[in-house]
Amino acid sequence: MTVTRSVILGCGSYLPSRRLTNDDLSRMVDTTDEWIVQRTGIRARHIAAEKEFTSDLALAAARAALAAAGVDAQTIDLIVLATSTPDNTFPASAAAVQAGLGITQGAAFDLQAVCSGFVYALSVADGLLRTGAHQRALVIGAETFSRILDWTDRGTCVLFGDGAGAVVMETQSQPGGRDDRGILTAHLRSDGRHKSKLYVDGGPSSTGTVGHLRMEGKEVFKFAVGAITDVIKDVFRDTGYSAADLDWFVPHQANKRIIDGSAHKLGIAPEKVVTTVDQHGNTSAASIPLALDTAVRDGRIKRGDLVLLEAMGGGFTWGAALVRW
Ligand code: UT7
Repeated sequence: MTVTRSVILGCGSYLPSRRLTNDDLSRMVDTTDEWIVQRTGIRARHIAAEKEFTSDLALAAARAALAAAGVDAQTIDLIVLATSTPDNTFPASAAAVQAGLGITQGAAFDLQAVCSGFVYALSVADGLLRTGAHQRALVIGAETFSRILDWTDRGTCVLFGDGAGAVVMETQSQPGGRDDRGILTAHLRSDGRHKSKLYVDGGPSSTGTVGHLRMEGKEVFKFAVGAITDVIKDVFRDTGYSAADLDWFVPHQANKRIIDGSAHKLGIAPEKVVTTVDQHGNTSAASIPLALDTAVRDGRIKRGDLVLLEAMGGGFTWGAALVRW
């Protein structure tokens, strides 16, 4: 019995040219390269130029993904952009991407689930594609977290960076077996009781300002590994796959200790883990597609590989998706 699945045709990413190292940061706040590397695994992050907006990053990543997929922008009828740092309160930054690509058909909107944004966007786009309402989607994660950081707070400003990643997806009929390509399952979770542990202290309806990121780092850290492993166990239960079946684990890139801890708890071999947090920092919704694109372009992720994606962030929100590339 054939099934309709959303198959990823290609991916792309974009990083702003300015690279900020830990040593650069140690000249701005009371920190050291040693502390940052030991606690987070981060060595450098990229920072958007003054006139470079989230939609500019997203558009560059989208163009790269379309080129990699060999797809004409005019065939895209759905754009879902995961971001917590849109250009403006409205319209959606996805509209700017749509206009930048010269697309006038279909739908374009932003989705906000902070660091879980890309997994949420992938799942939402997959659902819309499989209803038959849309045929081909661009799913993008793009952020300029540098704009919402308190650059005097060493507990947060060393952790985040800017960037964007994108995938092109379309519906295809698959045989309905273990070798099916596409999104095999996606599980989304949230628990709003934790909303004050990682938040931005401003917004259009509360303060009328943009605000700055605030985080109880230890609380987030404590929750992360348990939440991540729970939702991934649901993915395995749902699909019948196990850690041993995976070719690649592409987790949200927040902290190397969280990535290593989750992989260890799940029994995922270290050589299957794609890690980019050392060079990108935490780019929130952009981190998974940036890591995916890194591992596709360096030849690690190949067509037919089984790839597990996972994210956790503000809300708290978290989720996981299993994809056959
Ligand atoms: O995408 C999801 C979002 N976020 C996350 O996943 C982040 C989750 N949390 C974390 O990654 C970690 O909690 C952090 C990396 C943020 C912090 O690591 P920690 O081991 O939990 O350190 P801590 O917050 O308990 O701070 C330990 C010490 C403190 O000093 P005292 O009070 O022990 O004297 C901090 O003031 O480290 C100090 N500290 C720093 N020192 C040098 C905090 N930030 C820095 C810094 N440089 N940048």
